[in-house]
Amino acid sequence: MTYNERLKHVSVLGAAGKMGSGILLLNALEMTDLKIKTKAQAGNFVLNAIDTSDEALANLLAYIRTMAQKTAEKKLDFLKENWKEKPDFKTDNDFINEYVLQVLATVHTTTRLETAYDSTLIFEAISENKDLKVRIFKQIELSNKNNALYFTNTSSIPINELESDAKLYGRVLGFHFYNPPAIQKLVELIVTPNTLPDAKQFALDLAKNMKKIVIESNDFAGFIGNGHFMRDALFAIKKAVFLSKEMPLHQAIFCVNKVTHDFLIRPMGIFQLIDYVGIDVVQFILNVMQPYFENEDLHSDLLDALMQENVKGGQFADGSQKAGFFTYEKGKIISVYCLLQKKYIPISEILDKSNALLGNLPETFAPWKEINFSKQKHELLEKYFAELNTMNTFAARLAKEYNENSRQIALNLVKTGVANSEQDVNNVMLTGFYHAYNPINDFLKA
Ligand SMILES: NC(=O)c1ccc[n+]([C@@H]2O[C@H](COP(=O)([O-])OP(=O)(O)OC[C@H]3O[C@@H](n4cnc5c(N)ncnc54)[C@H](O)[C@@H]3O)[C@@H](O)[C@H]2O)c1
Repeated sequence: MTYNERLKHVSVLGAAGKMGSGILLLNALEMTDLKIKTKAQAGNFVLNAIDTSDEALANLLAYIRTMAQKTAEKKLDFLKENWKEKPDFKTDNDFINEYVLQVLATVHTTTRLETAYDSTLIFEAISENKDLKVRIFKQIELSNKNNALYFTNTSSIPINELESDAKLYGRVLGFHFYNPPAIQKLVELIVTPNTLPDAKQFALDLAKNMKKIVIESNDFAGFIGNGHFMRDALFAIKKAVFLSKEMPLHQAIFCVNKVTHDFLIRPMGIFQLIDYVGIDVVQFILNVMQPYFENEDLHSDLLDALMQENVKGGQFADGSQKAGFFTYEKGKIISVYCLLQKKYIPISEILDKSNALLGNLPETFAPWKEINFSKQKHELLEKYFAELNTMNTFAARLAKEYNENSRQIALNLVKTGVANSEQDVNNVMLTGFYHAYNPINDFLKA
C-alpha cells in the first residue's frame, strides 16, 4: 500500500482528548494537503474523529477550524501554487477560507467506533488503560479487513503486549507524541520484533511530513521520555521527603522545585512539571511501569497521599493549570499544598526562609527562556555552571546531586537497552522536555 493509499481512510480514537485533538489536527492537515496535491475528489480522504461525547466532538471541530485558519495563513504560497486553476479566487481570504472548508470536510466526528472498520490507519489516544485499548483494537480488527495499522499513543504500556493481546502481529506501533502534539516536535517511535518493515517506513514518512523529529525507543514500559521523567520526579519526591526532617514538607517541595527550575535552568521546576502532566497521570504511569522493573521502587507514598486529598494537578480545558503541588496565577506559583494542614500555604509565608536556606543564585544566572534561545547558549551555560561548581550553598549542592542523578538515569536507559544511544536520551530531553542542555553533561561535578 502506498503512502497516499494508507492515508485515504484514517480514524483517531479519543479524538476529543488532550492528545487526540492534536493528533487529529496533524492528520487533518496532512490529509488535506494530499487531497490538494493529488487533486482528489471530495470524499477521497476520510478522517474519523471518534470519541464518546458529541459535545466534546463539537468543541473539537471549533479547535480544528481555528487551527486550520492559522495554518492556511502560513501556507498561502502552497495554496496559491496548487489552486492556480481557481480564477475566481482573488484575495488571500478566498484561499484561506477554501482551505478551512477542505480541512473540515476531511474530518467526520462520530461516537460510533464502527466507522473505524473501513480505516487503513488507526491512531489510538484513548485513556491509558491496557485492557480498554486491547478490547477496542480487537473489536475493530474483527470487522476491519484492511490490514490496518494501529498507531498507539500509549505513554507506558509495552507495544509488544498490545500487539500480542490484540493479536495484531506486526501492525501495532508506538507513535508517541508529546503534549501538545501540534506544537511539540518529538515523536518517540516504538516497534516490536514483528513490526512490518513497510509499517515502520510509513511511520517515518508520516512523521517527517508532520515535521516531527523521530527518536526510536526500544519497547520498555515508559520508553525513553517517561523512563527519564518518572525517575527524575521520584528522585525529587524522595529528596523533598528527606529534607522534611529539617523543614516542613511543603517548604522542602518548594525548595527542590526552585533548585530544579532556577539553579538547574530548566523550563519549569520538577514539581511544577508533575502538576502540568497531572499527579494522577504520573501516579498512573508509575503503576503501569512498576511490574516491569522489579528491582526498582517506582512508587510514591506522597503522590498517594495527595491523590487521597483529591489534589491532582493537570489542566482545565482552556489549558490553564489546575491546583496540584502548587496553585498558580498567570503561570506563576502562588501557594504550595501542605498535607499536614490540608490547605495551600501562600509562598510569601515561606519565601524569605527558603531563599536564605538555598543561598544566592550564581551571578551569571539567566532564566531558561533567555539562555535556551540565545545564540551563545553553550557559552552561557558553561560560564553559569562553572560558577555554580565553585559554590557550596545548600542549593548548589542539591543542584549538583540532582544533575548527577538525572545523568545516571539517562546513562542507565542506554545501559538497559531502552535507548539506543546517549544521544537519543539527550535528544528526547532536549526536544520533548525543552531542556536547555543534555542530561548527560560535563557541566556539573557532583
Ligand atoms: N497527556 C499527555 O501529556 C500525554 C502525553 C503522551 C501520551 N499520552 C497518552 O495519550 C493517551 C491519551 O491521553 P490524554 O491525556 O489525551 O487523555 P484524555 O483523557 O485527555 O483523552 C482521552 C480521550 O479518549 C476518549 N475515550 C475514552 N474511552 C474511549 C472509547 N472507548 N472510545 C473513544 N474514545 C474514548 C475520552 O473521552 C477522551 O476524550 C494515553 O494513552 C496517554 O498515556 C498522554
